[in-house]
Amino acid sequence: MLRVGVLVSGGGTNLQAIIDQVEDGRLTGVSLEVVISNNAGAYALERARQHNIPAVCVSPGDYPARVDFHRALMEKLEEYRLDLIVLAGYLVKIPPEMVARYPKQIINIHPSLIPSFCGVGYYGLRVHEAALARGVKVSGATVHYVDAGTDTGPILLQKAVEVKEGDTPQTLQRRIMEEAEWKLLPQAIQMIADSHNGKA
Ligand code: GRF
Repeated sequence: MLRVGVLVSGGGTNLQAIIDQVEDGRLTGVSLEVVISNNAGAYALERARQHNIPAVCVSPGDYPARVDFHRALMEKLEEYRLDLIVLAGYLVKIPPEMVARYPKQIINIHPSLIPSFCGVGYYGLRVHEAALARGVKVSGATVHYVDAGTDTGPILLQKAVEVKEGDTPQTLQRRIMEEAEWKLLPQAIQMIADSHNGKA
């Protein structure tokens, strides 16, 4: 069984896609052990609570220095003995010691076809604003392993999504979520679970 922790900061629609697929049996060999957010008000934490998944807030603002926050986050992760950490809209920079502690055990979903529209400052609607400003006809989403950089780790899965005439950042974001993100992230977790559980 792959023990999975999900790190979130916002609404949690990607988390919900994972929860739904575990609960309806489409995603197998996975145990959702904890959802951790830097934001106590993140609706993603409410989604976890609604599904009886431990929902924990570890907020940088609760610690005197960033190093103390990093220590608290690492200690919380250790508690759950995780095999995979999923960043599902987690907007806090991952501490280097966390990347070192969990080599190829942290994945991230990014709402573009990396290497386009990614890196520092490209998150949420800003990604789609940049794609529309450039005039791309195709965008999409990427699941990649997390390394010490920002959106720079090895790519695991990608899915292209058509940009439509008249798209706004909001309509493009929604289409990419529905057609790509909510499919790719569970798919990536299943690949890793199958490998972990000896099924691949
Ligand atoms: C998604 O667009 C994801 O690609 C990006 O942050 C957003 C999170 O949305 N990393 P949600 O919290 O999963 O609804």
